[in-house]
Amino acid sequence: MAEKILIVDDDRDTLRLVGLLLQRKGYEIVAAERGSQGLEKAFQETPDLILLDVMMPDMDGFEVLRQVRGNPKTSNIPIIMFTAKTQVDDKVAGFEAGADDYLTKPTHPSELTARVKAMLARTTQRKGSEAAPEKAVGERGVVVGVLSAKGGLGVTTVAINLAFTLQKTQAGHVILADFRPGNGFLSLSLGFKNQTGLSKLLTKEGAEVSISDVQSALQMTDAGVRVLLSSYMPSDIKLIEAADQLVSTVRHLSYLGKYVVLDLGSALTPSIQKVIDLCTQLIIITEPVESSITQTKALLDELSMQILGLGNIHVVLLNRIRSETHMSTRAVQDKLGRPVSAMISPAPELAATAGAQNAPMIVVQKEGLINQQYDKLAQLFSK
Ligand SMILES: Nc1ncnc2c1ncn2[C@@H]1O[C@H](COP(=O)(O)OP(=O)(O)OP(=O)(O)O)[C@@H](O)[C@H]1O
Ligand SMILES: [Mg+2]
Repeated sequence: MAEKILIVDDDRDTLRLVGLLLQRKGYEIVAAERGSQGLEKAFQETPDLILLDVMMPDMDGFEVLRQVRGNPKTSNIPIIMFTAKTQVDDKVAGFEAGADDYLTKPTHPSELTARVKAMLARTTQRKGSEAAPEKAVGERGVVVGVLSAKGGLGVTTVAINLAFTLQKTQAGHVILADFRPGNGFLSLSLGFKNQTGLSKLLTKEGAEVSISDVQSALQMTDAGVRVLLSSYMPSDIKLIEAADQLVSTVRHLSYLGKYVVLDLGSALTPSIQKVIDLCTQLIIITEPVESSITQTKALLDELSMQILGLGNIHVVLLNRIRSETHMSTRAVQDKLGRPVSAMISPAPELAATAGAQNAPMIVVQKEGLINQQYDKLAQLFSK
């Protein structure tokens, strides 16, 4: 059966052109010219996807979005919003109200169809996994992958501090996993001597990696966060290629913890891409430096074509040193074409002390700006 798409736009030309384009691709189209009419049709028709304009006279797109999200019958319908170019503020407001993705007007037809297809594929996959959970013990937890476009930007630091922040309100439900075999830095950062957890799972031959294999590979920190550690022996780098074992490991982790934070590093290898497909949320770490933002934009473009909707991708701006030459947050957002979800300020002294004490920054200093910033970041996932 054809998937049903509701298009809500007060501009008749857009409505007709986008409708025709998607109809030709085999979708069933329902159209609405006003926000209020769009809302009615959303409730009546329960479409598989809604394309929603922001600026409309009677009821704007944000209000429609809020009401669709507020009704249990329609709350899970994926929504892509249309917004005028460069209106980054619109995007921030829309993501906060629960949009899954954005398209800027004018939109290239191939981009429009690619985004629609990716969004529908993602929901079909989600529905499928809900219908037949593999080895489900309970519900799947939130899997947050942390990565960056290049090394050294603070991925490991954010993964650690986010996990320990979540632990403050979700005691006993947090798992932190290092997915950098051969480059494992979590063990060193947290002062663990035995770091063979992930290597053992990835070198398992014949039998599949089981949930109890993963459970017994986990180690416990004093704070109660469970960790899966990777070795830092250079010869173990090749283990990342064990994609099947890696994928089973993530699946099992998602049933073992309510919150699973993954250090994915900065290399988008084929097996890391498969892990990304299993993440429910992604954090991209970047810094306010032109060249890094250029690389980050390229990474975001690549990821937006993957299964995740852009609404599940959060850009975190981590500033390691104060500098006059740094870009403003506004310039960063404009260049990326999307909002920055959270900021972490420079705290080189604290970072060095944390390193020396093998403890997370937020544990070394229990109050203050860095702590508050990680609290804010954690709230994006634990609401
Ligand atoms: N808020 C901060 N202020 C100053 N320095 C910081 C801050 N957060 C992290 N750092 C420092 O930045 C450096 C890089 O951090 P980290 O090792 O987490 O990056 P990474 O992206 O995981 O690197 P790699 O690519 O090597 O895995 C570390 O020395 C860390 O202590
Ligand atoms: Mg790292």
